[in-house]
Amino acid sequence: PNPSTLPLRPPIVTIMGHVDHGKTTLLDKLRSTSVAKGEAGGITQHIGAFSVPVPASSGEGPKTITFLDTPGHAAFSAMRARGASVTDIVVLVVAADDGIMPQTREVLDLIQREKLNAVVAINKIDKPGVDIENVQNALLAEGVQLESFGGDIPCVPVSGLTGKGLDDLVETISLIAETRELRAEQEGDIQGYVLESKIRKGLGPVATVLLLRGCLKPSAHVICGTHHGRVRSMLDSSDKAVKAAYPGMAVTVTGWKSLPKAGDEVLQGTEADVKKA
Ligand code: GTP
Ligand code: NA
Ligand code: MG
Repeated sequence: PNPSTLPLRPPIVTIMGHVDHGKTTLLDKLRSTSVAKGEAGGITQHIGAFSVPVPASSGEGPKTITFLDTPGHAAFSAMRARGASVTDIVVLVVAADDGIMPQTREVLDLIQREKLNAVVAINKIDKPGVDIENVQNALLAEGVQLESFGGDIPCVPVSGLTGKGLDDLVETISLIAETRELRAEQEGDIQGYVLESKIRKGLGPVATVLLLRGCLKPSAHVICGTHHGRVRSMLDSSDKAVKAAYPGMAVTVTGWKSLPKAGDEVLQGTEADVKKA
């Protein structure tokens, strides 16, 4: 089919930045506010991948945004090593009190090398004495093309602790996604990647799968390298059951016979594949 007629999918946004600059805190805040804003169920399981609804006032942009936390995600290096870049937009978190640090530069290099859309979130602005302008100047000195200086990288001051600026961040991401028109096939065989996997009490082997193509539903056969299974249930980041997963969504899939590896590709299987395995 003509790609421009395929359905829109949510943008996949990866949070990156130097150690302790506040990536997880920021994501936790985004997630807990969105859960508090209307999703049923409490927060029981942190899977580092979840969707946030975008306020309807934000025009023709995406309805939801999928956020991924990076640290410790062996999945990312594994996926990158095989040329799969699943990230549509990078949010580079820079702590205002710490400024540009070695891992900040690594992310800046990655953004440039892979020509990724990016947003800089200047974080921890609740801390007394921090100077946002100072950080912006340091970014400019590194060659970062900030939007307010005619470039294409927006910069949003935030506090993951208080939540200040997070609406702006979501809105900014939504605007970028709107111009990107991210589309994917929502029918037919699935394709995705394992972000995390583990054995969970009462659930057996589970894998958080980022879906890129197709529609995944319970009872579907799934294959991942030498591992396979039949989807028993799918859970969101609050352990709430999901009836169907679409491209751009990350869901925790149960029903694996063995534990798939983070970073590996997940494909649709058939009954025959499963018998062969
Ligand atoms: P790694 O995953 O280890 O790289 O760290 P991270 O980037 O996920 O940082 P994390 O969220 O663990 O936060 C590191 C420390 O900074 C914690 O003590 C947080 O409470 C604190 N912190 C994070 N965000 C803010 C913020 O907006 N304001 C303040 N004052 N502290 C923050
Ligand atoms: Na930390
Ligand atoms: Mg973290």
